[in-house]
Amino acid sequence: PAPGIKGGALAGRHVLVTAGPTHEPIDPVRYIANRSSGKQGYAIAEALAALGARVTLVSGPVSLPTPAGVHRIDVESARDMAAAVETALPADVAVMVAAVADWRAETSAGQKIKKDGSGAPPVLPLAENPDILAGLARNPRRPRLLVGFAAETENVVDHAIAKRARKDADWIVANDVSGDVMGGDSNSIHIVTRTGVESWETMPKAEVAQRLATRIADEFA
Ligand code: CTP
Ligand code: CA
Repeated sequence: PAPGIKGGALAGRHVLVTAGPTHEPIDPVRYIANRSSGKQGYAIAEALAALGARVTLVSGPVSLPTPAGVHRIDVESARDMAAAVETALPADVAVMVAAVADWRAETSAGQKIKKDGSGAPPVLPLAENPDILAGLARNPRRPRLLVGFAAETENVVDHAIAKRARKDADWIVANDVSGDVMGGDSNSIHIVTRTGVESWETMPKAEVAQRLATRIADEFA
């Protein structure tokens, strides 16, 4: 390629990646969250950038450095993540790796919630968060390749097949989290497409990322 122009199988493509957990506020000092480290999503963003893609990484709160060549947008809640994803469109590919909180506190208190002395804990009504992946599938600017992740602890492939159809994603990358995966360095995955299932041996998250980036690039070859 000419100087200053990025070569690579995904050169000229815009890829959107979501990663990390979301934090759903309860009051100014408390939130609902989950154990996602963001490692897998960050590794995927890095691997896609290494193939020449322009990568926008919409990230929940994590303690990871921004991968080289990646444009990172930090968000906290699921609703913030949904808005940042919409703003980042159009994209050729979206890879939704974030562990989006399924529920948020229905209202976030303006002040720190105090114990009232009665010993009765406060009731915390929940509301369901928007499904960012399913929303993108229905978006008029839907990316050409829409990839979801699914962390499952049992019936991994069956759940992923149902999830792909329900959300109308092109692929679901199903992650078997029955072992010690969340926060760990290895993943055991199956790629569920519209036409079948590709199962990969257990491998480090960095290798999953590289192979997935290559697999994505093959779709644009
Ligand atoms: N996802 C999303 N927005 C949500 C929930 C999930 O975009 N509110 C995306 C995730 O980023 C992931 C995929 O959907 O790519 C599957 O997430 P998962 O939590 O496995 O699916 P759910 O539909 O939330 O089902 P479950 O009840 O198994 O958690
Ligand atoms: Ca979920």
